[in-house]
Amino acid sequence: MRLLQAAPEAPENAVSIRAELLSGLSASPATIAPKYFYDALGSRLFAAITELPEYYLTRTEAEIFAEHQNAMAAALGLAATLVDLGAGNCEKAARLFSVLHVRRYVAVDISLHYLRESLENLQQKHPAIEMLGVGLDFSRSLHLPAEVGTEPRTLFYPGSSIGNFTPDEALAFLRQANAECCGGSLLIGVDLVKPVNVLEAAYDDPLGITAAFNRNLLRHLNRLAGTDFDIADWRHVAFFNGGESRIEMHLQALRDTTVSWAAGERRFAAAERIHTEHSYKWRSEDFAALLETAGFSRPRHWCDARGWFAVFAAQA
Ligand code: AVI
Repeated sequence: MRLLQAAPEAPENAVSIRAELLSGLSASPATIAPKYFYDALGSRLFAAITELPEYYLTRTEAEIFAEHQNAMAAALGLAATLVDLGAGNCEKAARLFSVLHVRRYVAVDISLHYLRESLENLQQKHPAIEMLGVGLDFSRSLHLPAEVGTEPRTLFYPGSSIGNFTPDEALAFLRQANAECCGGSLLIGVDLVKPVNVLEAAYDDPLGITAAFNRNLLRHLNRLAGTDFDIADWRHVAFFNGGESRIEMHLQALRDTTVSWAAGERRFAAAERIHTEHSYKWRSEDFAALLETAGFSRPRHWCDARGWFAVFAAQA
């Protein structure tokens, strides 16, 4: 098992992260990029979200993989290398090792620290598979390091994380993914449009786990950017924006409040919001068309019985 920190295109150091965060905070409306949800507590809160009865995505996708993995393997064709984008605990990919006849596994994640532990455990269970962990923030640019090689590979991007990109960003990402397949294929999970009450419950659960996940972003921001957010001043808001076909998550000020940092401040009026995430919900025909525009051919997909979630396979 090897670990590798990929060199970012633009240096992502504490100074540039702080500058990016503070410029988003100063904008109107204020925004914070969703990648900052995932500090240690945020990652645990997201894991808890995936266990919620209302958050159907993870469970439904797992059912689709379990039911259709043989057909997916046939559609993908043979590629000995599996590249797992946003691998985290590597569990989803590991379930496909045998059916896809994986001989080389490349786990890519923003946090190399988290990957180390996951890969060490996985390597013990699968000693015959060559494993490489790559630390890379591919939300900026998907450019795999030379060590990954040039053999055709299957790119695996589950969980509907593609939904956290705008359609334009998703297209740019898929074009890069197409190039990075080196003539192989893509296996990707996509959340679909469905009744609004189901969507909104998934992003505003009665236990308040998603609210904690959203509000925890402010604690992370206080650490990264030196801001002085008081979490008690902010509430979680999530709703489906039908015009844009996306769930939007915001943090809304409960009262007039001023947030300060070393070289500046931002005043928020009561009810003003910070936009923290969008999660696009696709129609399967639109996503198939997006894959083709990005250069993929023969897109196929499998759904659950309710038609809530789809897994697509396509050739680069
Ligand atoms: C990671 N991503 C696909 C999740 C989603 O559903 O958009 C993040 C999330 N946000 C709130 N709940 C889960």
